[in-house]
Amino acid sequence: MSVEGYESRIIDGKALARQIEDEVKSELEALESGRGITPGLATILVGDDPASRMYVRIKHRACERVGIRAEDHILPAETSQEELISLIDSLNKNRDVHAILLQLPLPKHLSPQEAMEAIAPEKDADGFHPYNMGKLMIGDEGLVPCTPHGIIRALEEYNVPVKGKNVVVVGHSNVVGKPMAAMFLNRNATISVCHVFTDDLKRYTLGADILVVAAGVKHLIKADMIKEEAVIFDVGITQEKDGVYGDVDFENVIKKASLITPVPGGVGPVTVAMLMKHVLKCAEKNF
Ligand code: GUN
Repeated sequence: MSVEGYESRIIDGKALARQIEDEVKSELEALESGRGITPGLATILVGDDPASRMYVRIKHRACERVGIRAEDHILPAETSQEELISLIDSLNKNRDVHAILLQLPLPKHLSPQEAMEAIAPEKDADGFHPYNMGKLMIGDEGLVPCTPHGIIRALEEYNVPVKGKNVVVVGHSNVVGKPMAAMFLNRNATISVCHVFTDDLKRYTLGADILVVAAGVKHLIKADMIKEEAVIFDVGITQEKDGVYGDVDFENVIKKASLITPVPGGVGPVTVAMLMKHVLKCAEKNF
């Protein structure tokens, strides 16, 4: 990838993740020595989707680095909704488990919404429970989804102002697009949410001071679709035989953007680090 001369425009997600993990480590040590609490995360993976397995493994490794106790619950693909809910119920009651993460997607016969709602809101490390989503909508950001939270943290870290800015989010998922839009609104940005059905996407992206792309379409955003000096977050991951690609044509877009996240090494590591923050928060609040 030839980005020579533009390196200073790259948002270093790995470095920011290290910094966040260091914060978690020291806060965790204080929690252990002060109150004798070691934060615990239980992950649930249903089935054997290789990508999901990899994501769960990455989260467990992060727990190890910061000192969070992690439990790995792997259920067979044919697990029933009742069995899944019963595991969630027992984890809700377990005082050593402060946070629960149900890896998505679930096999088709299971209802992610019902499962998500079964997780105790105060143990909802992902911020996906309707209670936490509802709080986010009214401006009370308790437990919020990790990816949008990480993007807000990166904007703060790189001193990018948000108030009054034109922000465009491409993708309207519950995991990224919708909570991201709410977090920008809470910070008084002007927000457009675009998605696969948007007519003339470029008309919107060209006006973006800050552009967040989470569409899952390789190189959807080209250099002629952004304005000079835009700040760009690429949440997309498309795995192909010869490598991993984002939703943004990084090599060309970096020449116009003022800041941009690479794929890999951008939003991904920050998302995982924010999850560690959320587990710590659950542990601090729960006793
Ligand atoms: N699948 C894709 N992204 C996520 C995420 O942020 N959390 C969980 N639990 N599953 C996911």
